Formats: sequence, structure tokens, C-alpha cells
Amino acid sequence: MPLERTLVFLKPDALVRRLAGEIISRFEKRGFVIVGMKLTCITEDFARSHYAAHEDKDFFEPLVRYTTSGPSLVMVLEGKDAVRVVRDMLGRTFGGDSPPGSIRGDYALSNRYNLIHGSDSLEAAVVEINRFFNPEELVAHNRENIKWIYDMTGTEIV
Ligand code: RTP
Ligand code: MG
Repeated sequence: MPLERTLVFLKPDALVRRLAGEIISRFEKRGFVIVGMKLTCITEDFARSHYAAHEDKDFFEPLVRYTTSGPSLVMVLEGKDAVRVVRDMLGRTFGGDSPPGSIRGDYALSNRYNLIHGSDSLEAAVVEINRFFNPEELVAHNRENIKWIYDMTGTEIV
């Protein structure tokens, strides 16, 4: 199985609360490799299309306002089972429901201001990575750098 890529972005509250370093550090320590990163103010159109699955929900307009309220730090993380593992590291949607040890469970209490987005499926990850990054903005990393993160001595990455 090749390593997966997933898209995350630190939402405006994470940056205003100076939690970016802490959150990035968790992904680094877990073994993920950052293959793309940009600081950007997500536009209203962009937010509406990113969260289009929620456009009929009562929280859609506040969600668009939240997402566009300041800069976000967008990243592509690469690692084994990246989509599922990153979602597990986030916790649940609402901070108060999230278990201690997860990012939202350690730093969030709100049902909306939950610090971070993570792709919820491999299909969504591909769409979201392409929406935020051009191919040349993603770097290929040296496999030597992860040879003590995984056993890569055989044909599989274990
Ligand atoms: P995300 O897409 O941001 O990674 O979050 P998620 O999968 O955990 O949650 P999702 O259901 O996709 O909801 C998207 C974002 O909308 C806000 N939200 N507000 N009931 C509410 O007021 C409500 N429910 C969701 C949250 O900011 C959530 O991350
Ligand atoms: Mg979602």
C-alpha cells in the first residue's frame, strides 16, 4: 500500500489562539510528513464549495463566516492510513464531545470553533488537495527520512 495523503487546515481560531505550532508538532511527532503548506485567507466562494455538503444545514452561514474570518494554514500530510489516522487525531466534530488526547479534545469546547479540518475520506482528500494546491506546490520527500517511522525493508510499508 502506498502512503496516503490527506488535507488539513488549521482554522482561524487555531491561528488566533497561537495553537499552530502545537498542532503541527503533533502531526510531526506521529510520523506524518508535510508535503505542502500555505497560509491563506479562504474566500467566501471557496468556503461555500469546500463545505457544500452542509449548504442546507442551519449552521452553514455561521460556518462560512467562521471559515473566512481570518487566515487558515493549509497542509497536505503524508503517511500510512493518513486520512483515518488524522481524523482520529482530530477527535469528534464538537470539542466537548472529543476525547482528551485528541486535538479538539485537548483545545476545544465549542460546537463550531473546532480548530482544524481534516478530509473525511480518501476521495475527499484527493478533491480537497487538488482544490488547494497545484501539483508543483507539493514536494516529493526522501524516503530515507521515514525509514525509522515504518519498516520498509520488504515490499510493503509496515
Ligand atoms: P471538518 O469538515 O471541518 O473537518 O469538521 P467535521 O468533519 O468534524 O464536521 P462536519 O460535520 O463536516 O461539519 C463541518 C464544520 O461545521 C461546523 N459545525 N457546526 N451543529 C453545528 O452548529 C455545527 N455542526 C458542524 C464545525 O465547525 C464543523 O467542523
Ligand atoms: Mg467534515
